[in-house]
Amino acid sequence: MDLFEYQARDLFAKHGVPVLAGEVIDTPEAAREATERLGGKSVVKAQVKVGGRGKAGGVKLAANPDEAVARATDILGMDIKGHTVHKVMIAELSPEIEAEYYVSYLLDRTNRTFLAMASVQGGMDIEEVAEKTPEALAKVPVNAVDGVSIEKAREIVALAKFPADVAEGVAEALVTLWKTFVAEDALLVEVNPLVKTKDGRILALDGKVSLDENADFRQPDHEALEDKAAANPLEAAAKAKNLNYVKLEGEVGIIGNGAGLVMSTLDVVAYAGEAYTSANGGGVKPANFLDIGGGASAEVMANGLEIILGDPDVKSVFVNVFGGITACDEVANGIVQALELLASKGEEVTKPLVVRLDGNNAELGRKILSDANHPLVQRVDTMDGAADKAAELAAAK
Ligand SMILES: Nc1ncnc2c1ncn2[C@@H]1O[C@H](COP(=O)(O)OP(=O)(O)OP(=O)(O)O)[C@@H](O)[C@H]1O
Ligand SMILES: [Mg+2]
Repeated sequence: MDLFEYQARDLFAKHGVPVLAGEVIDTPEAAREATERLGGKSVVKAQVKVGGRGKAGGVKLAANPDEAVARATDILGMDIKGHTVHKVMIAELSPEIEAEYYVSYLLDRTNRTFLAMASVQGGMDIEEVAEKTPEALAKVPVNAVDGVSIEKAREIVALAKFPADVAEGVAEALVTLWKTFVAEDALLVEVNPLVKTKDGRILALDGKVSLDENADFRQPDHEALEDKAAANPLEAAAKAKNLNYVKLEGEVGIIGNGAGLVMSTLDVVAYAGEAYTSANGGGVKPANFLDIGGGASAEVMANGLEIILGDPDVKSVFVNVFGGITACDEVANGIVQALELLASKGEEVTKPLVVRLDGNNAELGRKILSDANHPLVQRVDTMDGAADKAAELAAAK
């Protein structure tokens, strides 16, 4: 789960990372009092979970409370790369900035370790630094057991060639940032910029944090950080029904039993879909991930179908089931009953379904589907063939 900057700031403050004061607000008028509390000047910062806010005009200086109201008026409601700004942070104005640096920790899956990254060329464009002058971005593996002691932090600082006058301050900030990373079960903590001010302070002026949801069971405070308003309504509905559903951007609804099978179904559909053209001009792609799990009863199948058919982006549905403990005949009955169930609820199915059944009792399952003879259900008995059919049916006419 990605956090807003103001939430990252709060976590940084909790673990001792040096930050400035900040208040999050959602009406322009509230910017006045917040700025007054911060001493009459402030920086008005759009709170959206996307990079490049400054360049998009979402970070503005306010020299007095009136200006803060004006800037908050400009920024609230603004669209930054498809994200609407609903909240702004009124941040304390930093003392004069002398240098902007970059520091982060992240989980490095490829190398099965954690990674510290640091650069003296921080500020707005670290991606460009990484691309054009990779030598200016130090990358230092961090062992999970040893973590980042002050010695390790000094090593990172030396490798990134921080000037001597800030080395110790940056190293101390790196230690507190590591504490945040570990204590909050984060996958990423990033500070860009970490600044050196004219009066010699080291301050984190921006923060990006991504939390590991697998650790939610031991992080009771993290639930409150969820942005409920922004949750995809289909994902929220699926969650309420205990379904493993992730909304994607394509046109072919996917239902399968078992996460591995569903993952490979996404690949096969994306591959087959390259031969077709979707309404947006590109290839046909999967519209979602949905794993109905092992014991897929008619009710679970109906819940799954209901979610998928409720997605206006979906043009066809691919049900891909490999019968195991739950045999194909039960799944086939589940599909037939699910369609009846939806019809009885007044949710007539109008999108074509391609069903592929294999594994335990496949023959019997296929016969049940054939006998039911639902006008919108087609049986295709191979995974590739079914993916191709589903992609064809979802293609723009
Ligand atoms: N509190 C502050 N006081 C003074 N200057 C600030 C403050 N916060 C940010 N700035 C300046 O604005 C620049 C952009 O701010 P920030 O890093 O928060 O946004 P951004 O980098 O554009 O956003 P993102 O990190 O989402 O891409 C900083 O590099 C810094 O120079
Ligand atoms: Mg930034």
